[in-house]
Amino acid sequence: MIGAIEAPNPDYLTTKVGLVQVISVSSLKGGVGKTTVTLGLASAAFAKGLRTLVIDMDPQSDVSAALASRSSHGYSVESVLTNTSGSIVRQAVVPSSWTGQNDIPVHIMMGSPTVSAHDTPTPTKHDLWKLEEALASIEAQYDLVLIDCPPSFNALTQTAWTAADGVVIVAEPGLFSVTAVHRTLLALQAMRLKMSPRLRTAGVIINRLRRDNPEHEFRLQEMGDLFGDHILDPMLEETITLQRATGAATPIHRWPGDVAQNISRQFDRLLVQILTDGRR
Ligand SMILES: Nc1ncnc2c1ncn2[C@@H]1O[C@H](COP(=O)(O)OP(=O)(O)OP(=O)(O)O)[C@@H](O)[C@H]1O
Ligand SMILES: [Mg+2]
Repeated sequence: MIGAIEAPNPDYLTTKVGLVQVISVSSLKGGVGKTTVTLGLASAAFAKGLRTLVIDMDPQSDVSAALASRSSHGYSVESVLTNTSGSIVRQAVVPSSWTGQNDIPVHIMMGSPTVSAHDTPTPTKHDLWKLEEALASIEAQYDLVLIDCPPSFNALTQTAWTAADGVVIVAEPGLFSVTAVHRTLLALQAMRLKMSPRLRTAGVIINRLRRDNPEHEFRLQEMGDLFGDHILDPMLEETITLQRATGAATPIHRWPGDVAQNISRQFDRLLVQILTDGRR
């Protein structure tokens, strides 16, 4: 078990010192590990004492379940997209179950199945600005905002990207994931032109790698050729430890054992790269 939380490290925030960074965790393919990566990065931020907000944009609401909040006022991201006023936004945000009495809290803007009503295929620009607008009333309270996205490019993902500074793409080393990364990079290009010139590609995280799988080795080579610079190091291997920590609503940095410690260090390194844009 990892003991005391280290002091906040302002070096994490070198691109926008003192300002919040909003990072969307996305993939246009389902089940590749977006929620798992969101939780791993949130755990790294938590361990470093960064004031962190996780926003659950996915109607499946998996990240809300994993962060199992103790208190909810009945407001959610759906309420926020319906009414962006500060009082609603503040009530949709609650402390996560990770947060103990002496911790710098990780907060969650709760997800809801009803948010799918906002996931239209042809959103207006006004619709897409809503999360950005809503964040204005609370973002000064945070160093980092992580948005867990649904696996599609409808309005919810576009709304998340409009509010974001950077997008992390999650991919498995498989054929359909390679094509999904390509589609996601094209979609990012389109969003830069349409809505948000500041939006950067914060990197591709390869997840669920199995070193003993020749197909994975082949796809890794292919992804290296196609997306080279975008691929972040380290890559995350498939391990039951991550599933267990998620299932127990526990940050990986507080899960016992060497495997959990190694994964924690990997998420630490990924978070630094994502926030400092170190590879590009
Ligand atoms: N590195 C890993 N090792 C082992 N299991 C993993 C790993 N990453 C993700 N998983 C498992 O894979 C499943 C899908 O992961 P996750 O829910 O994070 O994907 P997702 O992209 O968020 O899915 P969705 O598109 O449905 O939102 C989960 O059961 C999760 O525990
Ligand atoms: Mg998910």
